[in-house]
Amino acid sequence: MVNEQGENRRDFLMLATGAVGAVGVAGAAWPFIKSMSPSADVLAQATTEVDISTLSEGQMITVPWQGKPVFILHRTQAQIDEAVKDDGQAMRDPEKDGDRIQKPEWLVVLALCTHLGCVPQPIGTGEYGGFLCPCHGTHYDTSGRIRKGPAPKNLPVPHYEFKDDSTLVIGKAIA
Ligand code: FES
Repeated sequence: MVNEQGENRRDFLMLATGAVGAVGVAGAAWPFIKSMSPSADVLAQATTEVDISTLSEGQMITVPWQGKPVFILHRTQAQIDEAVKDDGQAMRDPEKDGDRIQKPEWLVVLALCTHLGCVPQPIGTGEYGGFLCPCHGTHYDTSGRIRKGPAPKNLPVPHYEFKDDSTLVIGKAIA
C-alpha cells in the first residue's frame, strides 16, 4: 500500500521524467526543423512572377515554375466561348471552365500531359481549338480539359494570383 506521500513522490518523479523526455525531444528536433527551413534559393523558386502586360489576345507563353513548364494563354473571346459552350458535354474529367480560371481571358495550366508527362503543343494545334499532345494523341480544349486521347485528367491548374493587372504570380510564397 502506498501512502499519500509516496504517491506524491512517485507522481513527481513521473512528471520530472516526462519533462526531461520532452526537453530531450525538443533538443533533438531543433536541428531537424532548422534543416527543413527553406533557403532563400528555394523561396525564390517557389513562385514565378510574370509580366503579362505584353501578351495580346490569342498569345501564349510558356514559363518555368518549380522546374515545370506552365502555359499562360491570353484567351480570345472565341476561345472563352468555345470552353464555356462545352461545359455541359460529357467529359472524362468533368470540370466547368469557370472552375479552372480566375479571369476568363487568362488560362494558366501546367504544360505536362497527364498521360505520361509530355509537353503539349501550343493552343490551336489540337481538336476543340486546344492543345495537342503529340506523344500519343491527346487533345485538350481551350480550358485545358482532356477531350480525346489516352490522358486521364485535365491539365492541372497551379496556384496563382494576380498581383495587379499586369503581373501574375504562379505558386505560393512560403512565409
Ligand atoms: S504523354 Fe501525352 S498523350 Fe501520352
